[in-house]
Amino acid sequence: MNKLDFAGRHAIVTGGSAGIGAAIAKRLAASGAKVTLWDLDGSPRVDVSDPTSIEKALQGIGKVDVLVNNAGVAGQNVPTVDYPIEEWERVLRVNLTSQFLCCRAVAPLMAKAKYGRIVNIASVAGKEGNPNAVAYSASKAGVISLTKSLGKELAQAGVLVNCVTPAAAKTAIFDQMTKQHIDYMLSKIPMGRFVEVDEIAALVCWLASEDCSFSTGGVFDISGGRATY
Ligand SMILES: NC(=O)c1ccc[n+]([C@@H]2O[C@H](COP(=O)([O-])OP(=O)(O)OC[C@H]3O[C@@H](n4cnc5c(N)ncnc54)[C@H](O)[C@@H]3O)[C@@H](O)[C@H]2O)c1
Repeated sequence: MNKLDFAGRHAIVTGGSAGIGAAIAKRLAASGAKVTLWDLDGSPRVDVSDPTSIEKALQGIGKVDVLVNNAGVAGQNVPTVDYPIEEWERVLRVNLTSQFLCCRAVAPLMAKAKYGRIVNIASVAGKEGNPNAVAYSASKAGVISLTKSLGKELAQAGVLVNCVTPAAAKTAIFDQMTKQHIDYMLSKIPMGRFVEVDEIAALVCWLASEDCSFSTGGVFDISGGRATY
């Protein structure tokens, strides 16, 4: 592993107890960062789709140099015309509103300190739109736009905001999907394999570091050739 220098930096990773978030948290910690996890499955339990829970989690936390908005769910795999309205609202809330809420809470602290790196986890589904995953795809397209808007707003504040658009990675999120959907996602990847969580962590950690200094509002592809834009 190539080490980046996160000495003295404090990073918050949402959904950091498992999967991609855990790999990001591990790499940040191995590179010297103090890491705080905000996860439903953690102690204390933080629900990033709930502004009160975020406010509570921020109390007494001091400075935040890095925010990785990673928590997310897959939602059901059903055609759009059959997609339950409550499920649409749940997926949008957990995947998109949560990132808005965390940015809204943390960005002012970063702007005050004149330093910050925000990395939002989107998905190649947000660029391409996966069939039978309308809420997931729309939520991730929203994350891409959220990133572009906030990146422009904070471009002169010392706070850089970028997102990544991974192809499928074999994590516990697969338990929420149908086999047909997983096979579809794999079939779309020219490299012919799933991305490893450590590969995503490497890109996210660079975007979270001081080395990333002239990119903001950017959408960084990591889809094994699926999206060449
Ligand atoms: N695995 C993939 O194929 C893939 C591909 C592209 C993008 N992503 C995105 O990467 C992110 C992480 O996915 P993963 O595969 O590691 O999933 P995962 O299910 O392994 O982990 C998700 C984590 O988020 C937490 N979480 C869920 N809802 C939360 C909430 N309301 N508040 C706090 N924590 C919450 C869960 O407890 C869990 O620890 C998600 O945003 C996902 O959409 C995943």
